[in-house]
Amino acid sequence: MALRGFALVGLALFASLVSPTQAQELSSDQVAAGRKFAQMVCGACHVVTSRPDESPLLRPPAPSFAVLAQRPSLTEKSLRELLSSNHRNLGPAEAMPNPRLVDYQIDELVAYFMALKAAK
Ligand code: HEC
Repeated sequence: MALRGFALVGLALFASLVSPTQAQELSSDQVAAGRKFAQMVCGACHVVTSRPDESPLLRPPAPSFAVLAQRPSLTEKSLRELLSSNHRNLGPAEAMPNPRLVDYQIDELVAYFMALKAAK
C-alpha cells in the first residue's frame, strides 16, 4: 500500500516535470476551445469528436476530424492555409465553404487537430 502511494507520488512528480515543456507547444485551453468551436462551426458536416452519438446534420457527412487528422497531408501548415483562405473547391461537391475565421479561432482549431494527430 505504502509502495503504491509512493509510486503515485512519483507519477505525479514526473507529470509535473513533463507538462511544462508540453504546455509550451500546445495549451490545453486552446485544444479545448478548438474542440468546442469545431463542434459548433464544423460539426454540421464533420464528426468532430469520437462520441458515438455524434452525427453531422448535413448529408453526406464530410470525413471525421479523427480521420482527417491522421492524413499525412494534413500538417499544421496545410491546415492554416486551408482555414485562412477560400476553399470552396474542396471535396467532390465543392461542399466545404470558406469558414471565414479570425486568427485566434484558427490557432485553436490547429491546436485541436494537432492534439488529435498526436492522440493516435
Ligand atoms: C458545409 C460543410 C462543411 C463545413 C461547415 C466544414 N467542412 Fe471541412 N470539409 C467539408 C468537405 C465536403 C470536405 C472534403 C472532404 C474530402 O476531402 O473528401 C472537407 C474537408 C476538410 C478538411 C480536409 C482538407 C484536405 O486537405 O483534405 C479539413 C482539414 C476540414 N474540412 C476542416 C474543417 C474545419 C476546421 C471546419 C470548421 C471551421 C470545417 N471543415 C467545416 C465540408 C465542410
